[in-house]
Amino acid sequence: MTRQSLVLTVNGKNHALDLAPHRSLLDVLRDELGLTGTKKGCDAGDCGACTVLLDGAPVNACLVLAVQAGGQEITTIEGVSSSDGQLHPLQEAFIEHGAVQCGFCTPGAVLSLIALLRETPRPTRAEIQEALAGNLCRCTGYVQIIDAVKSVADSSK
Ligand code: FES
Ligand code: FES
Repeated sequence: MTRQSLVLTVNGKNHALDLAPHRSLLDVLRDELGLTGTKKGCDAGDCGACTVLLDGAPVNACLVLAVQAGGQEITTIEGVSSSDGQLHPLQEAFIEHGAVQCGFCTPGAVLSLIALLRETPRPTRAEIQEALAGNLCRCTGYVQIIDAVKSVADSSK
């Protein structure tokens, strides 16, 4: 089968890979790079569990071919904490507000919301809901997630 060489830049680190061109970014992150924080739910663009950032914008990694992501900065949940292991403030807020229950949606939701806060540092509840529209959560009812985002936004200057 034809294979393609490419370099993926994930969380600031370059990975040289040789891949079948049909493989999704999601499968490559999980199965080739061992970055299993990016979750596989529907594998069809419906649940948002696989959300990562491509050059800062949230995408469903199950819908992106790995070869399409070459040359872009890919950020996964493993890349949002600081180098000394300190959680991102939004992750801390999720814990404080009970916004993590089973946790399956959490990595994708956190990445969608990090993108929101970069664009809109003081979002309204409606803007937070809108940013979460592609991230399904079967556990929390979303209220705790929105409370967590509001707490981070309200503490920002
Ligand atoms: S696994 Fe990608 S959207 Fe569900
Ligand atoms: S915490 Fe379980 S799906 Fe969101």
